Amino acid sequence: MLALGCVIVALACGSSDPEVDGTTGATQQNGNGSGAANGKMLVVYFSRAGENWQVGYVERGNTAIMVDYIREQADVDVFEIVPEVAYPEAYSECIAYVNDVEVPQNLRPAYKNDVTNLADYETVFIGGPIWWARPPMIIRTFLEAHPELKDKRLIPFGTHGGSGVSSYTSLLKEYFPNATILEALGISGASVRDAESKTTVGNWLKRLGVDKQSTAIQSAQVRQSRSTRRYALNGQPVTSQSGIYIQDGKKYINK
Ligand SMILES: Cc1cc2nc3c(=O)[nH]c(=O)nc-3n(C[C@H](O)[C@H](O)[C@H](O)COP(=O)(O)O)c2cc1C
Repeated sequence: MLALGCVIVALACGSSDPEVDGTTGATQQNGNGSGAANGKMLVVYFSRAGENWQVGYVERGNTAIMVDYIREQADVDVFEIVPEVAYPEAYSECIAYVNDVEVPQNLRPAYKNDVTNLADYETVFIGGPIWWARPPMIIRTFLEAHPELKDKRLIPFGTHGGSGVSSYTSLLKEYFPNATILEALGISGASVRDAESKTTVGNWLKRLGVDKQSTAIQSAQVRQSRSTRRYALNGQPVTSQSGIYIQDGKKYINK
């Protein structure tokens, strides 16, 4: 806050010296030092509502609940992979379809809409359920549509009925061997609605250094030219694509 206060004071002074470069604020802190605290984060997930193993009929899928915990405790954007053709709501029908058709035919189910600004994100969470001991094929559809994930920091997660989610980590390694893949978190679908699961998610985000507290503004820099001031937060360099600008007395925020 002190750092941000200094920036606001700088704004009030209204200096118009060209290219004045000022730095304010404390030493930057990045959680576990992964650097993820500096970049924008996106959560990409698939989740199926309907009848499911151990939970009966649910209006929101188990992984969707886990995503709610992530978005409450981390500053993330979210993209849901929604299949063009919905999966059967009945559990046994869905099991049969995946086992008899989708997996043996190695299908790549299409999804609605897409992420068009992946370049804006430094860190991408990728998650969903486990289907027949692996991520559903629609996760592969997404990964194959986004080769640019190869340079990202990837965080696997998901819910399961006992198999764990290490297959998400393996799949990401298989597709993007040079990406930085961080610690995965799997939660049992049967217990995801319990209060402890939210805490478990919060502790994981803290360990990764990507929870809201770790990514709060701890430093700010200001660069002044004749009519524009650019603010860089937490050491993130201000580019023409991102940052906070005060130009001709008006504020612009480019995320
Ligand atoms: C088609 C299908 C196959 C599944 N196969 C597995 C499995 O192999 N291992 C496992 O632990 N859970 C399995 N499950 C359970 C789901 O992974 C679990 O219920 C998960 O929480 C569902 O998440 P969702 O509600 O976000 O779709 C399967 C569920 C379905 C519908």
